[in-house]
Amino acid sequence: MSDPRLQTLLDAAPGLRLKTDPADLEHYGRDWTRRWTPAPLAIALPATVEDVQAVVQWANAHRVALVPSGGRTGLSGGAVAANGELVLSLERMNQAIDFNAVDRTLTVQAGMPLEAVHNAAREQGLVYPVDFASRGSCAIGGTIATNAGGIRVIRYGNTREWIAGLKVVTGAGDVLELNRALIKNSSGYDLRHLFIGSEGTLGVVVEATVRLTDPPPPTNVMLLALPSFEVLMQVFAAFRERLQLEAFEFFTDCALQHVLAHGAQKPFDEVHPYYVVTEFAIGDEAKEAAAMAAFEACMEQGWVSDGVISQSDAQAAQLWRLREGITEALARYVPYKNDVSVRISAMPAFLAETQALLGEAYPQFEVVWFGHIGDGNLHINVLKPDGMENADFVTQCEQVTTLLAASLKRHQGSISAEHGIGLVKKGYLESTRSADEIAVMRGIKRVLDPHGLMNPGKLFDT
Ligand code: MLT
Ligand code: ZN
Repeated sequence: MSDPRLQTLLDAAPGLRLKTDPADLEHYGRDWTRRWTPAPLAIALPATVEDVQAVVQWANAHRVALVPSGGRTGLSGGAVAANGELVLSLERMNQAIDFNAVDRTLTVQAGMPLEAVHNAAREQGLVYPVDFASRGSCAIGGTIATNAGGIRVIRYGNTREWIAGLKVVTGAGDVLELNRALIKNSSGYDLRHLFIGSEGTLGVVVEATVRLTDPPPPTNVMLLALPSFEVLMQVFAAFRERLQLEAFEFFTDCALQHVLAHGAQKPFDEVHPYYVVTEFAIGDEAKEAAAMAAFEACMEQGWVSDGVISQSDAQAAQLWRLREGITEALARYVPYKNDVSVRISAMPAFLAETQALLGEAYPQFEVVWFGHIGDGNLHINVLKPDGMENADFVTQCEQVTTLLAASLKRHQGSISAEHGIGLVKKGYLESTRSADEIAVMRGIKRVLDPHGLMNPGKLFDT
């Protein structure tokens, strides 16, 4: 063991597993951003809440910074350890602890993959409805730390809506049980919500009690081809007015071409500039008629130029792949990612402004647009040209993000809709949160993490 402090860590938490091999430091020290060079002190893998508490107490005694770590599928650098931090991986704490049929809650350890949570809920005839493409790799604790969104927010809301209770170890080393899975609880500050979306800067989520719900009604998936960007929100309004939407996602032809190059099946013979994939409840004739009415109304207006509706689960999955495969298809370009949101009512003006802005600002790069448009959330992925230095590329993209952040400020939007601030968007936090708000956030951090050891440098500098 290279660092003598690590033996004292093992003395403090004998159940802990420690990894210090260079390959492990590299593996656990980075997330999906691939922008920073991992350089953690070591990787600590606790098996119990007591182990986690012992690690945090040890870190306080030795003033060692900690990076809580789930599946590291984050896109904002929130789980990066590039400065000698101890990575606290929840990987071994990955089990379901309790199912309560009366409360319809499932209590799980924080390292459980999201997909395993889905499966555990399904075994009980229920669903945990937060869902997105990295479901197999991300950990539930990480989704809580970023208040993750995904493809079903339009119907079910963000992670925050589904967390009934949390057990956390604060940065000071105290174990707190937050909200006791109560539905109604007006007894003071709801600290659970402080930890949701705090990106590991206040403490470590070790267990969560999530709410489950009934399985959705039968649904159909429809892929729509759109002739222009301007009609997007009109199509959304036409569908939302007539149907109970489970998802409403948008992508450009450029995104589609990358997914097709990655092995997906071509949906239309002709090329169209924009596409929407939408899922909606069916099950009776009225609903099916409403779906056709929405489609036909859009065709008549010239807002939609073609469409295909799923005839089987396999076809529905094929259509979803066109949207869900985008992140993976773009990964080799090490994209610079924007993940922005505005209110739905502000979307038309914001989209028009952003399209003009980015058209002018990015003539040199390929820019891929997609996102959860029904939630007012747009993903803009700028692709790094082969051979270009990452640092040069990021510098150029950041100049554009400064303009985008100014536009978001004007439209009262957010620089991070669902990926979190992490390291990537730290410099733009002020476009979304006032100086007074950030001062309050810093004060909260000082209380829960008095020595500033929890994921330092993420979200803001202290
Ligand atoms: C997605 O919705 O596919 C991801 O959150 C977006 C991204 O990879 O930028
Ligand atoms: Zn997304």
